[in-house]
Amino acid sequence: MTDVNGLSIGILGGTGDQGKGLARRFALAGHRVLIGSRSAQRAQEAADSIGAGATGDENAAVASQADLVIVAVPYEGHKALLESLRAELAGKIVVDCVNPLGFDKQGAYALPVEEGSAAQQAAAVLTESRVVAAFHHVSAVVLMDPSVEKVDLDVLVLGDDREATGTVQALAEAIPGVRGVYGGRLRNAHQVEALTANIISVNRRYKAHAGLRITDI
Ligand SMILES: NC(=O)c1ccc[n+]([C@@H]2O[C@H](COP(=O)([O-])OP(=O)(O)OC[C@H]3O[C@@H](n4cnc5c(N)ncnc54)[C@H](OP(=O)(O)O)[C@@H]3O)[C@@H](O)[C@H]2O)c1
Repeated sequence: MTDVNGLSIGILGGTGDQGKGLARRFALAGHRVLIGSRSAQRAQEAADSIGAGATGDENAAVASQADLVIVAVPYEGHKALLESLRAELAGKIVVDCVNPLGFDKQGAYALPVEEGSAAQQAAAVLTESRVVAAFHHVSAVVLMDPSVEKVDLDVLVLGDDREATGTVQALAEAIPGVRGVYGGRLRNAHQVEALTANIISVNRRYKAHAGLRITDI
């Protein structure tokens, strides 16, 4: 397993539920965590609420300072934000956890994405970065819940760069209880993103925060 000790983690949109949840778990695991936002003040407030040495700044500053950067913004703002950060993210592993979903009276459903998936959209924009898709099915509520010591799920990690997917699998395993599982090339990210709509349906029916486990590996 790749050694990810000492890796600093930046989170774009880290003021939201998912970003804060991941930030909290990585900070607790001893990583230096940098929360990004469109507002340095909001970022600082989010960092203060997490503690454990987390700091906050504008997305661009976080993108240039962190070793590895997680994208945790809504799909609507995804492409434009990444287009504005091409230079800052060049040469880095960029982890996309964005689920392009719509919601109507029947619940959640997957939105079509011209590039195939949000992760492929990121790769098309960030041609100088190593884009990896992961953390789509992790519940922010569970990540933030201090009573949950072990997060009971596998994180599917997809990408075209083996070293980068190995790093992100190891990073996922910094969260107690989580196993990072290689889930294929980036061209298969659409199903993983879309599957979140099914998991949301499960959660609504069973009043749960469901996670996935892959058997026999
Ligand atoms: N929530 C979950 O349980 C969960 C689980 C897995 C994956 N995800 C994925 O993670 C991403 C974030 O989810 P979330 O629930 O944390 O979302 P969110 O709270 O709605 O948004 C996260 C942050 O993104 C920033 N943002 C909002 N609109 C933006 C725009 N147009 N351009 C740039 N930044 C914008 C905001 O930060 P500032 O206003 O401070 O800039 C906001 O706090 C989504 O793509 C979601 O599909 C979520």
